[in-house]
Amino acid sequence: MTYLVTGANRGLGLELVREGARHNIKIIAACRSGGEALSALAREYPDLIRIISMDVADTGSVERACREIAGIYPNLNGFINNAGVLYGSKFDTRDPITAIDIDEAGDTFNINVLGTIRVMKYFMPLVYAAGEDRCIVNVSSDGAVLRDHGHVYASYSASKAALNAYTQRMRNYLASQPDKADIRVYLIHPGKMLTAMGKEIGEVRPSESAAGIWDIVFNRKDLNASIPFYDYHGKLI
Ligand SMILES: NC(=O)c1ccc[n+]([C@@H]2O[C@H](COP(=O)([O-])OP(=O)(O)OC[C@H]3O[C@@H](n4cnc5c(N)ncnc54)[C@H](OP(=O)(O)O)[C@@H]3O)[C@@H](O)[C@H]2O)c1
Repeated sequence: MTYLVTGANRGLGLELVREGARHNIKIIAACRSGGEALSALAREYPDLIRIISMDVADTGSVERACREIAGIYPNLNGFINNAGVLYGSKFDTRDPITAIDIDEAGDTFNINVLGTIRVMKYFMPLVYAAGEDRCIVNVSSDGAVLRDHGHVYASYSASKAALNAYTQRMRNYLASQPDKADIRVYLIHPGKMLTAMGKEIGEVRPSESAAGIWDIVFNRKDLNASIPFYDYHGKLI
């Protein structure tokens, strides 16, 4: 099986690559710039991990990466859209309406929403070509949920809500197509992780979250809700 992971150089992405390779999955590890941790992992699993340069905020970069990959792996079983950004701080006491940084908000949407839309646009034909054992994971966040979250991380939460809406529409489309209905699609909240992004809230090791996500990809949890928004344990959100 072959999977693409975005944002593969650190945080959850790096652990998804490690855990996937441990399960003998061929991984295309896509990132803006590699870094020593990912290079070391690729040396450990030279037959399984291929690092590729891809900035999900840049359409040309995603298209180029896809062309390169298509020449090597014309069939992909799926991908894990993991790359993401979170700006701001929950300790910021300013008025979040008037103090919002519009450029940061734009970046957030460009990466967290359009990044996944770009990857799906260009890489989905490779998944169509695989024909079986197909799965798409878009890494979301419980921040997309409207209840009980106060006002912090507003642009980020809005971006994940938009990602959820887009993903659900694509899931509905795939489910309506006889030759594509087997493609499982999930929105996964990976937990509040001990990563750079989770520095103000983290409690879960990203390796634990990565293991849970691969269990879901391997269909070990029998998840079949019509709105497939789960946490990394497979609990419906
Ligand atoms: N951490 C949490 O508590 C938490 C909670 C809920 C959901 N999530 C979600 O989980 C996912 C992973 O988060 P994390 O905690 O692992 O974050 P992280 O440690 O900050 O890592 C983010 C990853 O995304 C990559 N990335 C950012 N912009 C990119 C771009 N334009 N193109 C390609 N890659 C890009 C980063 O690469 P660079 O090194 O190039 O910046 C990095 O590899 C995200 O989707 C996040 O929203 C995290």
